[in-house]
Amino acid sequence: KHLTLVVPAAGSGSRLGEDIPKPYLTIAGKTILEHTLLKFRDINQLREIVISTSDQYLDQTREIADAVFNTQSVKVIRGGDERQNSVMNALHSASGSTDFVAIHDAVRPFVKKTQIENCLVKLDSEDVDGVVLAVPAKDTIKEIGSDNLIERTPDRSKVWLAQTPQIFKKEVLMKAYQNAAESGVKGTDDSSLVERIGGRVLVVEGDGDNFKITFPLDLRLANIMLSGR
Ligand code: C5P
Repeated sequence: KHLTLVVPAAGSGSRLGEDIPKPYLTIAGKTILEHTLLKFRDINQLREIVISTSDQYLDQTREIADAVFNTQSVKVIRGGDERQNSVMNALHSASGSTDFVAIHDAVRPFVKKTQIENCLVKLDSEDVDGVVLAVPAKDTIKEIGSDNLIERTPDRSKVWLAQTPQIFKKEVLMKAYQNAAESGVKGTDDSSLVERIGGRVLVVEGDGDNFKITFPLDLRLANIMLSGR
């Protein structure tokens, strides 16, 4: 089965407090985006990569991606004002003939090749529309109201934290994004849009290393993990 990789990289990085958006910060001689893309380079089924980014980073992104991928087709396109729009733009640029689409945040450079492969095997062998790399929640999750009062405590043994990659059958994902656009629904991940249209999505257990570089502490941790300082 053929795989397209979609990488949203158009975020501004405001929560990190840096001038340069997160994917373009350099750690150990490479941008975070390049570290991330390298994890997918040797995935057998991968045929196409679509990266969405902001206007100012189109050229740099093309250079980074061309240095990583030799045999696969690379498309670099404009992202949107929210992650969901960045992914949607990418989906519209993806080849019609692909079977599976993996979406992976540009700012998760610590995903492992074996985890990506585990996800692909599950998607191919189980009766599901998608798979999501996830970890069991470490802390107890609270659902709160607008007044910060706790409304609900979900049973922790049933709560998992969704990471990326999230990989789906292409037609189901396209339908989910079309439905979200038509109904004005916003999701904070891709799976939630597929779940909304009744899709069956399986979690595949990953690990905590695959965190999303979001806050300053995450960046310090990424520095330690990639360059030992
Ligand atoms: O901001 P957040 O942590 O949700 O970002 C997750 C990923 O989505 C990042 O790789 C970021 O660059 C990307 N993103 C995007 N377009 C946006 C916002 C975020 O591609 N408008």
